[in-house]
Amino acid sequence: MTAVLLDGKVALVTGASRGIGHAIALELARHGAHVIALARSAELLADLANKIGTACSPLVCDLISQDDVENVSKLVQQRWGRLDVLIGNAAVMGPRIPLSELRESDWSTVLDTNVSSNWRLIHNFDHLLRASEAGRAIFVTSGAGSRAQMAPARGAYAISKAALDALARTYASETASSNVRVMLCNPGPLRTGLRASAAPDEDPMTLRTPSDFASKIMALCLPSWRETGRMYDFPQDRLLDFTGPA
Ligand SMILES: NC(=O)c1ccc[n+]([C@@H]2O[C@H](COP(=O)([O-])OP(=O)(O)OC[C@H]3O[C@@H](n4cnc5c(N)ncnc54)[C@H](OP(=O)(O)O)[C@@H]3O)[C@@H](O)[C@H]2O)c1
Repeated sequence: MTAVLLDGKVALVTGASRGIGHAIALELARHGAHVIALARSAELLADLANKIGTACSPLVCDLISQDDVENVSKLVQQRWGRLDVLIGNAAVMGPRIPLSELRESDWSTVLDTNVSSNWRLIHNFDHLLRASEAGRAIFVTSGAGSRAQMAPARGAYAISKAALDALARTYASETASSNVRVMLCNPGPLRTGLRASAAPDEDPMTLRTPSDFASKIMALCLPSWRETGRMYDFPQDRLLDFTGPA
């Protein structure tokens, strides 16, 4: 029975308004955590808060805005004085066109949302994670960033996920001697709006759901989790090691 294993813990989830982040927020609350749910859509966050009740604090936050993230960090410090679990999940896909045709603004939005925002979270919440007796940082990545053969017309997204992998692994190295554990998670194809925009011809009912994934990654949020700097691959249900040139 794991339902209260995060009792008394405070967890922050980005992109909690829908899709995978929404499912992770519900699951964290089910495990006893207080969930700080971030996204830009106030209405969808309010729906989540109605489902969870008092264990959810919805906060409207545009992760691209340095001020928004700093304000959330100050609020978390003042109101809870702790952060035990950080889930960097929010991302955008960007237009499905070749790199040569991508507009500068689209390139910037994808890289800023998918990479810089997660650095911004580390920058603003590192002190709280280190102060926790078992700080856990989990970043939701994609296989798109580490394929042997990169897919055409999804360049900014794939590049952003490759950079996110390096960001998380660097943070894992930097926190290795602390109580903080840092993991990457690859959901594989799941039934969400982002997936529908990436694969419009696919039947969504053939895909697994965000809640299937969310329940699986709860183990990584627990104080008992020991691994750091590795990737959990949901399609294969196993941890992957990174390999590179000698
Ligand atoms: N679904 C899949 O098949 C799949 C596969 C591989 C990896 N992933 C990864 O899984 C994660 C979640 O994807 P998803 O499928 O759940 O996507 P989704 O349904 O499109 O949800 C994306 C979430 O990100 C939030 N978001 C986007 N830009 C934001 C910003 N500037 N500030 C704050 N929040 C922002 C959105 O909220 P607002 O719009 O309300 O701000 C939304 O809650 C992503 O990292 C994605 O790359 C998904």
